[in-house]
Amino acid sequence: MKKRIISLALVLTMVLALFAGCGNDGGSASGEYADKKVGVCIYQFSDNFMTLYRTELENYLISLGFSKNNITIVDGANDQATQTNQIQNFITDGVDVLIINPVNSSSAATITDMVVAANIPLVYINREPSKEEQERWKTNGWNVCYVGCDARQSGTMQGEIIGDLGLDKIDLNGDGKIQYIMVEGDPENIDAQYRTEFSIKALEDAGFTVDCLDDQVGNWDQVQGQTIVANALAAHGNDIEVVFCNNDAMALGAIQAIKAAGRTVGTDIFLVGVDALTEACEYVISGEMTGTVFNDHIAQSHGAADCAVKFIKGEKVDIYVGCDYVKVTKDNAQKILDSLK
Ligand code: BGC
Repeated sequence: MKKRIISLALVLTMVLALFAGCGNDGGSASGEYADKKVGVCIYQFSDNFMTLYRTELENYLISLGFSKNNITIVDGANDQATQTNQIQNFITDGVDVLIINPVNSSSAATITDMVVAANIPLVYINREPSKEEQERWKTNGWNVCYVGCDARQSGTMQGEIIGDLGLDKIDLNGDGKIQYIMVEGDPENIDAQYRTEFSIKALEDAGFTVDCLDDQVGNWDQVQGQTIVANALAAHGNDIEVVFCNNDAMALGAIQAIKAAGRTVGTDIFLVGVDALTEACEYVISGEMTGTVFNDHIAQSHGAADCAVKFIKGEKVDIYVGCDYVKVTKDNAQKILDSLK
């Protein structure tokens, strides 16, 4: 009898353990939103920043109770036609909510119309649709919103990081001006436009005179960044005092070009990016990059997922959900790195 009770208890424990184990694997159907389907469109998987973003987004959605099997993330391969097809497929599939990082922000109106007609709530991320488009969501009371940061702030911070060094340090040729080159992201994207404009505006507002030696589009891409900076260094040599890159991927390319040209960041040239990718923070710590600006992919991806949940629950969602950038220099780069672990 005693033996039977023990084996019964054992079986019971095993069954209980089996049930308990179901809760955490993300793929199971036990989370609060496990039956809800989420479609996520990313403009391009090979983008370093968007890779961090989508990984965090998926993990956070799972932590909120979505099932991994019901979260589908697709690569738009930087082609709007491909992405529009993917959106159409998600609509046909009857997803409960869409999170879209558009290839072209200017396609937002078309995308919104498609998704709203299918009665699916929509969260735009990373590439901000125009203010007129956002007005349309508001006026019509549509379940559409945007989650992102104000790129003007990141540009301003880049300019301030350079300006804070002081003219004596930056003005290597002593002509009283700051000679710089600009490496831009995709100009269709407001982040690229604003960072280009506001980094320089911050220097001018602080009283510096600037002199642009070159301004090229590197499409957020490391290899293109490297080529642009290598060419600029070959053309302008020691005249270049500062290299502004609209993001860290292109700044990582710039570092290669600067090293290959025998120049030393912090001594005879200065370099800033945006994003605070791990490698960039490490370069800021070692002095191979002057600074960067933390583009908070954690706050943004969580904000996007939280909006998705609110839509699913039928709650009110703000049209625009913003977040702050953070200046990253040698002083706080380690702290930022630690916070990302
Ligand atoms: C990031 C870039 C990224 C771009 C993609 C920007 O906010 O800083 O690194 O390539 O978004 O749209």
